[in-house]
Amino acid sequence: MIIKKAELVATAVKKNQYPEDDKKEIAFAGRSNVGKSSLLNLLVNRRNLARVSGSPGKTRTINFYEINEEFRIVDLPGYGYAKVSKSVTENWGEMIEGYLAGREGLLKVVQLVDIRHTPSAQDVQMYQWLRHYGFDGIVVATKADKISRNEMMKCVGEIRKTLGLSPEDKVIPVSTLKRTGYDKLLEELDRLLEE
Ligand code: GTP
Ligand code: MG
Repeated sequence: MIIKKAELVATAVKKNQYPEDDKKEIAFAGRSNVGKSSLLNLLVNRRNLARVSGSPGKTRTINFYEINEEFRIVDLPGYGYAKVSKSVTENWGEMIEGYLAGREGLLKVVQLVDIRHTPSAQDVQMYQWLRHYGFDGIVVATKADKISRNEMMKCVGEIRKTLGLSPEDKVIPVSTLKRTGYDKLLEELDRLLEE
């Protein structure tokens, strides 16, 4: 896939703010600061399309990016950000659930986890939640530049084991810093959109 055009078409906290047409969607989920917005920028080859921040909790709304006027990548707000208030956390749950449950065009949710760490209890919960809604099977392990090639297998194995992935599920290590791995994700997106 060659991404020629990408634009933010909607920013939503509730359903009536979602785009109304039936374009296909692929969403990115993961804890705050894991690198969802950075990955989106890398895929579309734009430095600042999605706002990236060193401090977690940057993306607080569901952001819909239309790609090639054909489908959308949806950047979901991150979870596990301790400093937000309880009411924000509750809204987060409602916001994500409202989106995941019954979004017609949603093909896949890509879950992002940090390659360096064993997935957290919240990562596991998120993954189980996704399964519950009928999504499965694609994990991006971010910040791959932070570990050595030798550590890669072990870290990916740890992610597989902790999330309870099936052998056919994919884990794609990606580094936005070194710009590696995203070609595999693009291939995966191509496959999904063709189905
Ligand atoms: P929220 O919007 O808070 O949910 O965070 P996010 O998941 O969108 O993370 P974001 O893309 O804003 O990135 C968080 C931080 O991680 C930023 O400082 C990025 O520069 C850094 N980062 C993202 N991807 C990578 C990577 O592959 N390698 C390294 N070394 N840093 C990365
Ligand atoms: Mg973000």
